[in-house]
Amino acid sequence: MKVLVVGSGGREHALVWKLSQSRRVEKIYAAPGNGGMKDLAETVNIKESNTVELAVFAQKEKIDLTIVGPEISLALGIVDEFSKKNLKIFGPTQRASVIESSKAFAKEFMKKNNIPTAGFNVFDSAIGAINHIRTASFPLVIKADGLAGGKGVFVCQNSRQAEESIRIIMLENKFGKSGEQVVIEEFLKGQEMSFMAIADGKRVIPLATSMDYKRAEENDKGPNTGGMGSISPAPEISRDLYNTIMNTIILPTIEGLKFEGKEFRGLLYAGLMITRIGPMVLEYNVRFGDPETQALLLRMKSDLVDLLEGSADGNLFDIPVEWSDEVSGCVVLTSRGYPGKFETGKTIEGLKRAKAMGVEVFHAGTILKSDGYYSAGGRVLNICARGTTLKDTMKRIYDAISFISFDNMNFRQDIGRKKSSEGK
Ligand code: AMP
Ligand code: GLY
Repeated sequence: MKVLVVGSGGREHALVWKLSQSRRVEKIYAAPGNGGMKDLAETVNIKESNTVELAVFAQKEKIDLTIVGPEISLALGIVDEFSKKNLKIFGPTQRASVIESSKAFAKEFMKKNNIPTAGFNVFDSAIGAINHIRTASFPLVIKADGLAGGKGVFVCQNSRQAEESIRIIMLENKFGKSGEQVVIEEFLKGQEMSFMAIADGKRVIPLATSMDYKRAEENDKGPNTGGMGSISPAPEISRDLYNTIMNTIILPTIEGLKFEGKEFRGLLYAGLMITRIGPMVLEYNVRFGDPETQALLLRMKSDLVDLLEGSADGNLFDIPVEWSDEVSGCVVLTSRGYPGKFETGKTIEGLKRAKAMGVEVFHAGTILKSDGYYSAGGRVLNICARGTTLKDTMKRIYDAISFISFDNMNFRQDIGRKKSSEGK
């Protein structure tokens, strides 16, 4: 079969890599893709936001299955666009994607369906939000309502920081329309983890567990990013906790959405905080996590295409999903300054020597020129590996990284070593 992967980051490179191992897949296209995946996929110069042109391309090329990476394509209705043309596509409709594209909607939805989450208020004016902040207790968390690439969340220790966040989101409009509303919520303490499952509207197949490291600096300091690294499985998850997550969060979410006429087919990602009173939802995403997927797919033994097609067809019956017992990790190499301002266009050296260490190198923000790869984004490369112990696996990754260099290269040295986001 012919498949099309939409997106251009490390997650999409990992999806292409995994799909290339399927016995059923003969040809892979990636739109717009990136230079790093060119030996596995033919890249097509159509942006992820250009949903109409993507559907025209898929029809012309007789693509059997399209797999959507980024949230922006889903929020713009790529699935609806493809469905109009009877093209098979993995992902939720625009209506169902709203649990990621509006945090205010997601919070109200959870409240209505008794899905555990932090207490919250929603504001559509800076004045209202600031009045609330003046009488609130700290820490608290302020979130832009709409999509902000993982950068629209501010954990605030005092009213000065909180008012500053409101200024950035609502007065400077840093996130555009995404900041027209804010959610202000209670700060939760605990251990963070990501839980991903594939749904076909009714049935759900949970994937192996994983965890990402969101803060820019070591020891979970600095601003939130899209993710600086990941490991799979997530540490310390008991059978009881797993069942609680399925029964109190994942299944009620799929059922609640169906009840509202927002049937969910695709990947449901719940960002969770495991608190003393149990798991609570920090956020929903409606697509594969980045960089969790990179670590996760290294452990998947089954054919990914069966699972994605089953979801798209609304038929996830009898699809076995097997995982390696080994652990995996992923370290993200970034341009210094990310998630704020950063420079690009730096020559990348040492990729071949790094790969010779037995790691997978997934490209995120790179561009391939005639004389080699250059940095082209905030998150530049993902260095990933699988092994018997986390310690050895991470050592192999960091040893490989020591061969890679570009000007102002930055990365966290503690991925896999310290638990992420232990409450302060
Ligand atoms: P979100 O995009 O909503 O998952 O938020 C990004 C990150 O901010 C999370 O991964 C957490 O590290 C942190 N965060 C978000 N909400 C909360 C909360 N209510 N309590 C503590 N930390 C939070
Ligand atoms: N790593 C977090 C995300 O994909 O949103």
